[in-house]
Amino acid sequence: METSLREELLALLGGEDAVSRMSHEDRADALEHFQAEKLEAAIVARKAGKPSVQELADLIDTRGYRRGIGNIFIHTRSNKRPYEDATGLKVKRLAPMPKAPTLVDFLEKRINPSQHLLQSANLARKQGASEEVVLACLLHDLGVSLIRAEHGYWGAQMIEPYVSEKVAFAVRYHQPLRFFPDPAYDYEYPKGYFLTFGVDYVPPPHVIDTYKKVRDHKWYEEARLVTCNDLYSFDPEVVVTVDEFRDLIGKHFRQPKEGLGFDGSPVAHMWRTFINPDAPL
Ligand SMILES: [Fe+2]
Ligand SMILES: [Fe+2]
Repeated sequence: METSLREELLALLGGEDAVSRMSHEDRADALEHFQAEKLEAAIVARKAGKPSVQELADLIDTRGYRRGIGNIFIHTRSNKRPYEDATGLKVKRLAPMPKAPTLVDFLEKRINPSQHLLQSANLARKQGASEEVVLACLLHDLGVSLIRAEHGYWGAQMIEPYVSEKVAFAVRYHQPLRFFPDPAYDYEYPKGYFLTFGVDYVPPPHVIDTYKKVRDHKWYEEARLVTCNDLYSFDPEVVVTVDEFRDLIGKHFRQPKEGLGFDGSPVAHMWRTFINPDAPL
């Protein structure tokens, strides 16, 4: 890494002393792990006013909610507006669910934002990805509606009884892989993460370790392709509907006849939480 770039980011963050006083003791050391391109992009983001890790942490007790909360429990909020506390806003009444709800019912009536999932799956399909990768893209952020923190793991757990191991793997590990560029797939560190996580964010050691293991796994490509199609910058004029994926879901998602939430599986309660997130206990 180029020393001058590192020094520039340190200066923008208030100097080496300020950086070393940040919540992570090894912040300054961790900066060493920035790749040069990521560091340059971080400096551009900082100059454009994007926050540091510490500045985001300082916002925690200014809000009436925690950022890790799932979208179904709170009015629409966005990682693009981390400063905003819109706790005065109201949530919507949810549409009733059928007695034996299917994955399509959840995608249509509960998952927010489903358009992101549909667009990701659409993109993967257009690029000739396998059906399992398309399904993984369609389901990759299911967990975000329930709980944003560790959403890849929550989402993978929810679908595990109903999909192939490969699909669950891709959903689980798209989350840690998002932090790590891979030029072989033209995948870069997401610029939006400078705002979401802070310009000087470095994934914690367990995430780095997971990345190394996944990188050497036979299904690395499946998980990587989810990150490649995980874009928010799609054409807003193009609306993708769940109907386009009914056949794929029918083929690769083992829909329980009792309905998701009522099949007695170890994850049924997670689906029931989606069905009625207004339950007080
Ligand atoms: Fe995700
Ligand atoms: Fe996503």
